[in-house]
Amino acid sequence: MAYHEQIIDQIQQASDIVEVISACVPLKRTGRNFKANCPFHHEKTPSFIVSPDRQIFHCFGCGAGGDVFSFLMKHEQMNFPEAVRHLADRARIPLPESEKQVRSERSENDRLYQICQVATEFYHAQLMNPEMGKQGRAYLSQRGFGPDEIKEFQLGLATQEWRALLQHVIKKEFSEREYLRSGLISKSAQGNTFDLFRNRIMFPIMNAQGKVIAFGGRVLNDDLPKYLNSPETPIFKKRRELYALNIAKRTISGTDAVRQILITEGYLDAIRLHANGFKNTVATLGTSLTEDHVRVLKRYADESIVVFDGDRAGEQASLRSLDIFLEEGMGIRVLSLPRGFDPDDFVRAKGQEAMKQLIRESQDIFDFKLQVLLRRFNKSDSMGLLKITSEFLDTLSKLKNFVLVDRCLKRLAATLGVEEASLRSELAKLQKKQQGTQKSEAVPVQTTASNLQADRKGNQLERVLLSLLLHYPPYLLALKEAFPNFSFLDSKLNRIFSLMDQMVCVDQMPEISTSKVLNRINDEELKALVSSLLAGEWLSHENREQAFQDCLRALKKEEHSKRLRALRNRISQAEDQGDENLVLKYMKDYQTLLSEEQ
Ligand code: UTP
Ligand code: MN
Repeated sequence: MAYHEQIIDQIQQASDIVEVISACVPLKRTGRNFKANCPFHHEKTPSFIVSPDRQIFHCFGCGAGGDVFSFLMKHEQMNFPEAVRHLADRARIPLPESEKQVRSERSENDRLYQICQVATEFYHAQLMNPEMGKQGRAYLSQRGFGPDEIKEFQLGLATQEWRALLQHVIKKEFSEREYLRSGLISKSAQGNTFDLFRNRIMFPIMNAQGKVIAFGGRVLNDDLPKYLNSPETPIFKKRRELYALNIAKRTISGTDAVRQILITEGYLDAIRLHANGFKNTVATLGTSLTEDHVRVLKRYADESIVVFDGDRAGEQASLRSLDIFLEEGMGIRVLSLPRGFDPDDFVRAKGQEAMKQLIRESQDIFDFKLQVLLRRFNKSDSMGLLKITSEFLDTLSKLKNFVLVDRCLKRLAATLGVEEASLRSELAKLQKKQQGTQKSEAVPVQTTASNLQADRKGNQLERVLLSLLLHYPPYLLALKEAFPNFSFLDSKLNRIFSLMDQMVCVDQMPEISTSKVLNRINDEELKALVSSLLAGEWLSHENREQAFQDCLRALKKEEHSKRLRALRNRISQAEDQGDENLVLKYMKDYQTLLSEEQ
């Protein structure tokens, strides 16, 4: 049975390749990737890499590679539909043919999702109840949130009753084991069961697929604790989840030049920003940002903008947490609100335009870091200088992009008034120390701009170009615009390219996901080629863009010299034939063409 691409996409989104592979092969983290001895050939030193960013695996030893589906097909000897069914099952995504089966299955986690959904509707109905919900609605309205926000975020109300939700879920035939497991009902030492949330505005927390998995609840006054969150459950890991991501991910467009996401800390901050048109906003759930968060975010956006309250921006903890973005290779900027404001206060007081302005002014992480360090330490005393450089270099050592490191070192040297060379050697020392544990990976596609000078025959330019197209399919349109009849000289690369090209024509949209490309390739060798191209790293949007522009420039140059060569041939032919007029005409063309060269 053939499955619709949409459902395949959905299944792939929900299946983390690292989780799937680590169930079969013990993976070890190395930097951004994971490594293991290749399960497909015999080896003693690991050359099998799994990339969580790209959601692919690749073996540099035997060349096996592909996405999560191809892994199962190869490793578990499944055919494609079997792999799809296996992953769908695992992610609890109903497939058209097996819906009945899933419904009857009623596994434990399904029951948790169900109870969360039942509770969402229950709390929401209480908030909307003319009498019961009056105070809750009044509180929200006094804070500037109305029916639109209540509806969009399915806000609710827990009243002061001790057993309102409890009685409701019993009526809905949830067992004690089930409702205790959901965390929404607690049991005292004496064995009394009661609602965890009482007298609170309820915020259903949804996962990226839009299923409710937990709740946050805010008191209606100044009681403490101000917010209460569901405890961790099998379906709720607060260090992984982000509030409002299910909405934000839909509004970030793949065709935006830089796909940005705003990260705040509070439910109401996120809701306020959404209500003011910043629908690309999420909120953490009372934890600091984690690696898991960044890995999830990276699937949907190129760049995060972390929004800090006015009085928090300089905190040591937040400074450190930003390094995760660099380690995970995601673009990161920092937006600091004026003192005394959180995002909600700020937008409410100053409006949408003022917020837009702050987003535009948000700082590059390096500028931000340097600024904070300069505020904290005195660069003119030697201890202070040492602190600043070591903190800053520590961050820089996490970067894998030479161009960016270079630029930052220059800036740091200029700001501190120290020799760039000495910073560079400090950095080299640091990197050496860190690499001691981490053998360098054979990344086939290097990202430095200098590689791109290599000519097309050397294949490097073509590999870089195709890798860029695979990483960011909208480039395909840009390439076709510049060179309508473009093709790759390398026949294998060209087969992948024409496949992508056909997909764009058919769909009229540059929404080609890697899995779709891989799905259409049957040839194992080509599959491995795609995965090896995807294993290259394109750190930031900026870097990627630069590389693409370099490619275009190199191609234009190539075309230009081809035309010059052709003209030279014609000139000498015309000379041979003694056709003075023709020689003159071609000479003129030649001059014109030469002057077009930039
Ligand atoms: P803040 O204390 O910054 O509050 O908590 P806020 O978001 O501005 O809330 P309002 O505007 O007073 O309603 C930020 C986030 O930290 C977590 C919650 O996730 C909250 O949204 N938090 C805060 C807790 O988990 N427990 C608390 O007691 C307080
Ligand atoms: Mn607030």
